[in-house]
Amino acid sequence: MQPDSAEIELRLRDEAATSALAAVIAPHVQPAFVIYLSGELGSGKTTFTRALLRALGHPGRVRSPTFTLAEPYNLPNFELYHFDFYRFCDSHEWRDAGFDEVLDGDAAAIIEWPEMGGPALPAPDLWLRLAHSERGDEAAAERIVTLASGSQWGLACVMGVVAALHAGLLAGVSLRAASLPPASD
Ligand SMILES: Nc1ncnc2c1ncn2[C@@H]1O[C@H](COP(=O)(O)OP(=O)(O)OP(=O)(O)O)[C@@H](O)[C@H]1O
Ligand SMILES: [Mg+2]
Repeated sequence: MQPDSAEIELRLRDEAATSALAAVIAPHVQPAFVIYLSGELGSGKTTFTRALLRALGHPGRVRSPTFTLAEPYNLPNFELYHFDFYRFCDSHEWRDAGFDEVLDGDAAAIIEWPEMGGPALPAPDLWLRLAHSERGDEAAAERIVTLASGSQWGLACVMGVVAALHAGLLAGVSLRAASLPPASD
């Protein structure tokens, strides 16, 4: 296992649980922090981003970038870009659109549908994979999310989520599986 790799799987009971998770992740987001958001249509990627932006101090509306492809936010401490690559047909389009300049800079980035960006897309610090619950209609608002770290920053974030869970600070969120690096003394 890589020293900075950790992966946890969580059950989110409802949208409030998704927002609570976003609030715990928010303090770890910093300039140049990259979050990938994967998951089928309607799994909650934009909903998660809305809660994250609220927690980061953005008071206004958060529009889905499905059609605009990118939405910039001037947060109190740094700039953040919310991207949605769903409409891209080939893996060069994000560069053709000039998004490589943003991703090479100091802005934080949240990327929905990163799979459409191809292998040249900068690696994420944190990768969230959202899915509807296997329990279907029985729990329409339930989601399963996997959080994987891709850097020391991402690792600190995943460990922060685990600590918040253990401290009982994440209502409606439960741990299903965890693969964490060994604790160092
Ligand atoms: N636990 C939950 N977490 C997130 N969203 C939820 C949850 N329960 C219900 N929802 C609802 O599911 C929908 C998720 O839509 P959203 O636009 O966030 O999905 P998306 O993954 O961004 O889809 P797309 O791929 O089309 O961009 C919203 O209507 C939201 O209210
Ligand atoms: Mg979306």
